[in-house]
Amino acid sequence: MCGIVGYVGTGDKSIEVLLGGLKRLEYRGYDSAGVAVIDAAGDLGTRKKAGKLQVLVDDLEATPLTDGTTGIGHTRWATHGGPTDANAHPHLADDGKLALIHNGIIENFSELKAELLAEGVEFLSETDSEVAAHLVARAYRASGDLTEALRTVVNTLDGAFTLLVVHADQPGVVVGARRNSPLVIGLGDGENFLGSDVAAFVAHTRRAMSIGQDQLVTIRPDSVEVVDFTGAPVETTEFEVDWDASAAEKGGWSSFMAKEISEEPEAVAKTLLGRITAEGAVTLTELDGVRERLLTVDRVIVIACGTAAYAGILGKYAIEQWARVPVEVELAHEFRYRDPVLDEKTLVVSISQSGETMDTLMAVKYAREQGAQVLSICNTQGSTIPRESDAVLYTHAGPEVAVASTKAFVAQGTALFLLGLHLATLRGTLSTEAIAEQVADLHEIPGKIEQVLESSERIKTLAGWMADTRSVLFLGRHVGYPIALEGALKLKELAYIHAEGFAAGELKHGPIALIEPGQIVFVVVPSPRDPRSLHPKVVSNIQEIRARGARVIAIAEEGDAAVLPFADEVLHIPLAAPLFEPLLSVVPLHIFGMELAAAKGLDVDQPRNLAKSVTVE
Ligand code: F6R
Repeated sequence: MCGIVGYVGTGDKSIEVLLGGLKRLEYRGYDSAGVAVIDAAGDLGTRKKAGKLQVLVDDLEATPLTDGTTGIGHTRWATHGGPTDANAHPHLADDGKLALIHNGIIENFSELKAELLAEGVEFLSETDSEVAAHLVARAYRASGDLTEALRTVVNTLDGAFTLLVVHADQPGVVVGARRNSPLVIGLGDGENFLGSDVAAFVAHTRRAMSIGQDQLVTIRPDSVEVVDFTGAPVETTEFEVDWDASAAEKGGWSSFMAKEISEEPEAVAKTLLGRITAEGAVTLTELDGVRERLLTVDRVIVIACGTAAYAGILGKYAIEQWARVPVEVELAHEFRYRDPVLDEKTLVVSISQSGETMDTLMAVKYAREQGAQVLSICNTQGSTIPRESDAVLYTHAGPEVAVASTKAFVAQGTALFLLGLHLATLRGTLSTEAIAEQVADLHEIPGKIEQVLESSERIKTLAGWMADTRSVLFLGRHVGYPIALEGALKLKELAYIHAEGFAAGELKHGPIALIEPGQIVFVVVPSPRDPRSLHPKVVSNIQEIRARGARVIAIAEEGDAAVLPFADEVLHIPLAAPLFEPLLSVVPLHIFGMELAAAKGLDVDQPRNLAKSVTVE
């Protein structure tokens, strides 16, 4: 949450760089935005505005701020204090010479604020962040060294934070610090950058470095220095960002979400790339470091939040079926606080698109403290969760900018399927032929998603008819169950419609009482070819709700004639192996959520109250 950009260079172009970076980071928060710049005369200018970034851009166009070589910018997701101009970042210290931006929560801010108030400091905002601005300015007055000043202050703060500071007396210097909150360095030629993630600077450089927990970084046009919170120098390693700025542009699509749904085939294909051999075996060399654990594991616990946790349920079904290891799926925030039983035979698998979700990060750290090995499935290079894990399986979905996750879900499902097949290979629970058969099926999924995308217009029309709907239910069974949950979540967060997903078998245990005439119910129908004969059971469920007046929209396999008489609408998906069907059936639901939101005139990329990367607990 909150997007952060820092820039130092030699030309007067800070504002352009900062606004460009904030535009790409806006998905992290969009309650307000602001910049602070040091101009050639050594004056510090700031501008900040409540509302989306465009409000700030318009304001700067109407009344320009003098540009300079050094600046910081922020886009906010409000925690302490509402989304007002005053609470927007940057915050100035009382001497007006230091500006600070912050992502995270300073948990001991009230004590610190009380001390400052007692000393007569006047606060202009209700934020926890402003406290840090006053404290760093004081420390700077004492030491005359901005890095040292920030280092002194971060050692007094509790909570999670990324902080960036600039000082009018130090043009050409931006200092940052991080604890449990993201910060990445961009390495330019005669210029350097800081950002919450690489999107902040990828338009200028693809050379990046991530910094670890409890570290500070000082950037100048021609140098980057990293020290830890004790002041000791830290070695950092450079990496190359594997996508370019155009990947994070809309590229002619009406929204990032429309673009990202269209990229679902590619997200699956790229996640498979280089990981399956011509013979149909799975090779995951990045997991060599945890090979022993994979061989001896007697339990897997998947931890994640939201959509990533629903992908985790797909992994549960696949890993249990193929590798014969029990798998639990837990919401990361519940896992951490329930005193889970972990031992050396437990493998914890975390899933996170952003690699920064605080709940997941904390659960990863906790699991490792308890002696578990952690394998993370992640989409974002340079993010924190991979750094904190024993092994990483990257999804290669490319940057996901729309706040609600779509293409990351299918990439996460694909990575979990690869993991399941890898485990089955290591443990000898599936024959080489059986694995090759699954791999061949998986290989066909991208082409089949393309076919599903061809029905987008029909789904759009359906969504248009339902723009006034107040409640939608989703039913699914087995791997269709997480798809029902995902369909409901998309509708809630994008279209602000009450929606619930249920396991179809649970219907008669309560939820059927919700069915009244006209209630819209999406049903994810398993293949009639499913060996467990789940298909007739779900068709019976459809009849039960139809008998009570529900309007049924079925997502069913092509040629599934049994469902036709009972559904008001059928959205067809191509034939696929039962475990892989969800990678197809989720696509119409992603399109539906987006189109219903669009039909209501809502911003599908930036839904209200949300931020993409949930970096506070
Ligand atoms: C829903 C959505 C969220 C995220 C969740 C985890 O559309 O986007 O539920 O899936 O916040 O985020 P990551 O995967 O970044 O850890």
